[in-house]
Amino acid sequence: MPPVYSSSENTILKEIAHQNGGALSRNMQVVSTQTQSIGTICCMLPISRLTFCTSSLVMAPIASPSSQLTTPTNTPFDEQQPGGGECRKGVKYLVDAAPNMRTLPSEYIMPQPLIPSSVNAAPIPIVDLSGLDGAVERRMIAVQAISSACAEWGFFRIINHGIDISLMDEMLETVKGFFNLSWEEKMKYASDDVMNPVRYGTSLNTPKKHTLVWRDYLRHFGYPIHKSFHLWPNNPPNYRFIAKAYLEEVWKLALKIAEAISEGLGLERDYIEKSLGEGSQIVACNYYPPCPEPNRTLGLVGHSDHGGLTILMQNDVEGLQVKHDENWVAVPHVPGTFVVNIGDYLEILSNGRYKSVEHRAIVNAEKTRISVAAALGPEMMATVAPASPLVDEKSESKFRPIIYKDYMRYQQSTPLRGKSALQPIMTMANNSIAKPS
Ligand code: OGA
Ligand code: NI
Repeated sequence: MPPVYSSSENTILKEIAHQNGGALSRNMQVVSTQTQSIGTICCMLPISRLTFCTSSLVMAPIASPSSQLTTPTNTPFDEQQPGGGECRKGVKYLVDAAPNMRTLPSEYIMPQPLIPSSVNAAPIPIVDLSGLDGAVERRMIAVQAISSACAEWGFFRIINHGIDISLMDEMLETVKGFFNLSWEEKMKYASDDVMNPVRYGTSLNTPKKHTLVWRDYLRHFGYPIHKSFHLWPNNPPNYRFIAKAYLEEVWKLALKIAEAISEGLGLERDYIEKSLGEGSQIVACNYYPPCPEPNRTLGLVGHSDHGGLTILMQNDVEGLQVKHDENWVAVPHVPGTFVVNIGDYLEILSNGRYKSVEHRAIVNAEKTRISVAAALGPEMMATVAPASPLVDEKSESKFRPIIYKDYMRYQQSTPLRGKSALQPIMTMANNSIAKPS
């Protein structure tokens, strides 16, 4: 007998089908649903979001994970979507076109609860990575430091990471060069398909309607570089070459940290690396120009990252905030360092021992902020599930398996905030339901 779905479940199915280009991925089936009570935040959302918040759809792959997703075609932005009209050209364009702008355009005004209030500076842990290359005992200390930082914060700063400051600076410079191009030139890389290997855009990653945020971005696939290098921007002419050098270094660095994380979890040192298969890397270059009313909007709303680890660098303008113990805290800028955070993939793999952490970006009235976030993740067709050694009689599996590509498409397509993208794959064993912020 075909399964019967309630209207809210049907809404979710349609949502997922829509995101998959019109059909549920052939290897997915609905295996169970559960209803959760709705909080006040859900009640304030439009009805389509409300129905999505009230149920938890659980998906599991059937047979082999050979997803047959159809890729939506490249459609131009339309006026109904975020970025319609002049806004679609990007916030840099708006600022350049009206340097004396004093009022924030209404499309960017955030609902009251999301407006950043003043926050304290975060004493996020600092990890000296040189310890990982040291003798056994020294290495153990570094592994322990990373393990505690992951468990307590999910966010840490790394020093002695081995990447040349000159390469970091060159990357920031060529990213700036890209955003300084005309909007017509940048729009050559625009796409409504969240899975496109290269995308220029503005506001959140999704083309769905949402309150806009004060950010332009260039996102593209990195490692394995030969697969998408030819698609990366060739203007500025050095962009591809500097980005290649930078992303290769950052990939190696992420693997080194992943080894330490594996060990800290009591897994084989290469456990995470092996779980990635060929692996995938996605880089987000973010551009936040000065904003006329920075307290009425955000550069990025609170979200977690879909990958395993994100390695972030920025120019000398602060703006990153992290949610710690339910409070937002500001991450100070320390030149020459990177900030690393746990993403959803590692929360799933560690069966919830490490949590992906919500973070957001605020903007300011004076200076342009640029950040480059490079995420390490598994290959697109990998089945993402808790590591079997971490699932035993005592600790049930907290997440149902999902194909990484399906998860990423879903997470990137939704304007829902916080860690809500993890909800549909949580099992009953996972009683810490992520709330939108
Ligand atoms: C991101 C991100 C934060 C920042 O790109 O996912 O969280 O400080 N960026 O720009
Ligand atoms: Ni992020």
